[in-house]
Amino acid sequence: MPAQILQLTDLHLLADPEKTLKGVRTRDSLIEVLQLIREREQSGEWNFEYIFLTGDLTHDEQLATYEALRELLGDWLPRCRLIPGNHDDRALIRKVFPELVSSSTGFINFSVETAGWRLIGLDSHVEGELYGRIGSAQLEWLSSELSTHVRQPTILFIHHPPVSVQSAWLDRIGLRDAEALNEVARSNSQVRAISTGHVHQEFSENFNGLQILTTPSTGVQFLPRQDELVCDQLPPGFRIFHLFENAFESVVIRLPEIPG
Ligand SMILES: [Fe+2]
Ligand SMILES: [Fe+2]
Repeated sequence: MPAQILQLTDLHLLADPEKTLKGVRTRDSLIEVLQLIREREQSGEWNFEYIFLTGDLTHDEQLATYEALRELLGDWLPRCRLIPGNHDDRALIRKVFPELVSSSTGFINFSVETAGWRLIGLDSHVEGELYGRIGSAQLEWLSSELSTHVRQPTILFIHHPPVSVQSAWLDRIGLRDAEALNEVARSNSQVRAISTGHVHQEFSENFNGLQILTTPSTGVQFLPRQDELVCDQLPPGFRIFHLFENAFESVVIRLPEIPG
């Protein structure tokens, strides 16, 4: 069986579990996603190595909300890694998830290995802004990780996508230093994919063997190819990766219907 990893993104949790975002109770929606994963794990269908949570963990950036997330992740916590989105607070993430946050850089990022694959999470949070930026210090760190593990096929996880998703309003709040990141990715041929969140929709583009993916939110969905925000009526989802010896497959899994 290939190694499996999960990507959950854009949870947008709120301190009050009854509160909704665009009509969706994001807490209930995440609970249903976690239940689906739990069932597949218990049935033996899935045996995942990691869950990567790729930002916008909370919507309100409150301590109680991060604590609620920690509680929901339960015994999966040691297998979780996280990076912030625009709707996150680095200080609160550090406070609530101290064991998951590396202390060596000012960023909340990760670099782990499983089944011969290198999986790297990058922090694109910019204080007080909706757009993202990786920054030169973190790009240097990425380059050094890639040159240290040059033989390991690699997937990068970031909150903000480094390409246009063909929606004017989302492209305006994308990754400001996408070119610099894509340059590093293209010049290290072991980087096979960059998987992101932020756009609350499924999107895929392949340039010269480098797959750019975006993953739906575990809550609210945005309709693709719009000039302004329009909600989509698709159920919440997440992404699973199957890691083979030198190739991967990835699919989006959605709940059967919108919760509630
Ligand atoms: Fe989001
Ligand atoms: Fe976001």
